[in-house]
Amino acid sequence: MEPRQHLPAKRNNGDRLVAVVTGASSGFGMLTTLELARQGYLVVATMRDTANNRILIQQVGEARLTEFIECMPLDVTDHGAIGDTVNRIIYKHGQIDILVNNAGMAIGGCIEEIPMEDWEKQMDVNFFGLVAMTQAVLPFMRERRQGKVIQISSISGRLGFPGYGPYAASKFAVEGFSEALRLEMLPFGVHVVLVEPGAFKTSIWNKGFDHMAARVPADSPYSRYFNAILRYSKNTADHADDPQEVAYAVARIARSRYPRLRYTLGKGARMSILGKALLPWKWFERILIRELEK
Ligand SMILES: NC(=O)c1ccc[n+]([C@@H]2O[C@H](COP(=O)([O-])OP(=O)(O)OC[C@H]3O[C@@H](n4cnc5c(N)ncnc54)[C@H](OP(=O)(O)O)[C@@H]3O)[C@@H](O)[C@H]2O)c1
Repeated sequence: MEPRQHLPAKRNNGDRLVAVVTGASSGFGMLTTLELARQGYLVVATMRDTANNRILIQQVGEARLTEFIECMPLDVTDHGAIGDTVNRIIYKHGQIDILVNNAGMAIGGCIEEIPMEDWEKQMDVNFFGLVAMTQAVLPFMRERRQGKVIQISSISGRLGFPGYGPYAASKFAVEGFSEALRLEMLPFGVHVVLVEPGAFKTSIWNKGFDHMAARVPADSPYSRYFNAILRYSKNTADHADDPQEVAYAVARIARSRYPRLRYTLGKGARMSILGKALLPWKWFERILIRELEK
């Protein structure tokens, strides 16, 4: 008989498997929380400020999923709170089967002009937060010899776009960390997976644009090139894909028996990866810069 490729979201005793999502107050995190609950998981939706859970709670109510989603406060830069939160979840639910490291933000600007504290902030949330969260959950997965750590990386973890240096650096770090971790954990039956979305319509874009535009003064030597990048980014954001696609993909990965290391999502992202792999870098960069300067 063929082995089943999709796992049930239930334990042997019929209880739901437990998924933990970070940054669940909006965007991919919120949609993934809902999708995992629909697919049969009990989801602990963590977020910096549980006062921001209004939209999630409303959608949970409409979908009649209230008893399967629990909100907990968690700022992923607070490493002490991470340990306490994970222990609370284990105490209450006994196990963690799926961790979705989703919390993130994007800092842009021109590398020469970005202050060090912004680099640190970017790495604290997107990288060190994800490392701390993963470290806290791993012992419980390793002991049970099962579990999945799903990292919401980005196309920016495969390709460094100009104007997004800190963001690209943080996501490249996530990629290297996760490749190494995948190989460390496979012998223990724990799967580490990278999800690499291209451009999807969430609030991360607008939050970043306001900050970026304010950052580059009109007399900056970068201002012309930077404004072209900003225009290109806004246009990309306007035509970005439906974020529900990412939530579906994460839920499919959660239930997959043998998930791959990487899932690149969105047409543009797949094309970029293909272009980078097939074209000589000199050609590729020429095309990219020409596109940006249009
Ligand atoms: N949208 C895209 O096109 C795209 C593409 C590739 C990758 N991604 C990645 O997808 C992930 C989710 O982003 P999104 O697009 O869904 O944007 P989003 O709607 O802005 O969601 C980001 C979430 O992360 C949370 N967050 C930020 N800092 C945090 C912290 N210190 N502790 C805990 N949570 C924190 C935010 O919470 P607050 O509401 O409290 O700020 C928010 O809930 C990010 O890792 C992002 O890099 C997005």
